[in-house]
Amino acid sequence: MEFRGAHILSVDQFDRADIEALFAVADDLRAYAARMRVTRVLQGAILSNMFFEPSTRTRISFGSAFNLLGGEVRETTEVKASSLAKGESLEDTARVLSGYSDVIVMRHPEAGSVAEFAQASRVPVINAGDGPNEHPSQALLDLYTIAQEMAGRGKGIDGLRIALVGDLRYGRAVHSLCKLLALYERIDYHLVSPPDLDAPAEIVQSLLRRGHRAAAYHDLEPGIHDVDILYVTRTQEERFASQAQANRYRGLFRLNQAIYTEHCQPNTVIMHPLPRDSRSAARELDADLNENPNLAIFRQTDNGVIVRMAIFALVLDVAGAVHDHAQPVTWYTAKRTPA
Ligand code: CP
Repeated sequence: MEFRGAHILSVDQFDRADIEALFAVADDLRAYAARMRVTRVLQGAILSNMFFEPSTRTRISFGSAFNLLGGEVRETTEVKASSLAKGESLEDTARVLSGYSDVIVMRHPEAGSVAEFAQASRVPVINAGDGPNEHPSQALLDLYTIAQEMAGRGKGIDGLRIALVGDLRYGRAVHSLCKLLALYERIDYHLVSPPDLDAPAEIVQSLLRRGHRAAAYHDLEPGIHDVDILYVTRTQEERFASQAQANRYRGLFRLNQAIYTEHCQPNTVIMHPLPRDSRSAARELDADLNENPNLAIFRQTDNGVIVRMAIFALVLDVAGAVHDHAQPVTWYTAKRTPA
């Protein structure tokens, strides 16, 4: 694909060559993300960061990534803080914001809404999560992390065995990651969820059509045997019609150190897109795993900045100019080794 000026709406846009190109740029930017150098390559550029659903990681890391490239960030959070609350359409909002910005990042609760917004935008739009549909930048940072973790174990992504655990029906990070991994060869998917929260049939069918293995499990323990990656997700409670319905799934699948030790291989990587639900009734990923060296969740979040810097560098066509605008870091920072 041509990254320059492109909207990034779905992982369906990418092929393996695109991913390799993006990851090469990400590798080149690691020193900037680690504050070993700064660059002003996007000086004067403006990002509109529009988040109409709660977010910590995606919003802050997109904003930080843009700042680290020298650009400025304007934020709107919550529908009620924008004129969408007065009945303005997504189309009009896009026309207005694209006059103010060089690129727009948007999260919205409705599937397809970011694509609808992008149709009316004159500048690139990046999907930061559209309801239960997709979360492409999360899948890219997850895949970047998987590649690093597997390389550390002398393996690649082809032939990967992955267990995806939890709410596979509404989990947009899972949907995007499943599709992105399908670009590789011989992926073995263990789809581990409560019966009513199975992965969408069309995604499973597309994995099988591409020659991958995909098996559904409705109990945790048999699903997490013999995998390289254990990708745990929370129940997406905000997608259910009522809290009472969501409560039926709370705490059904919980991974803790004892279950990991008994059922997983000793070097199985543990991932989660976060946030994990740390309330006592949920705890799908227990804090007693925090000292487990195979827990990669904070390596994932660090990689989020690097991968999002690479997305901006490619979409705004400055990847080749980053080092020309580099400057030494002049302030104290403890963060001086690449993540
Ligand atoms: N993983 C993720 O999207 O986290 P936030 O909801 O905090 O952005």
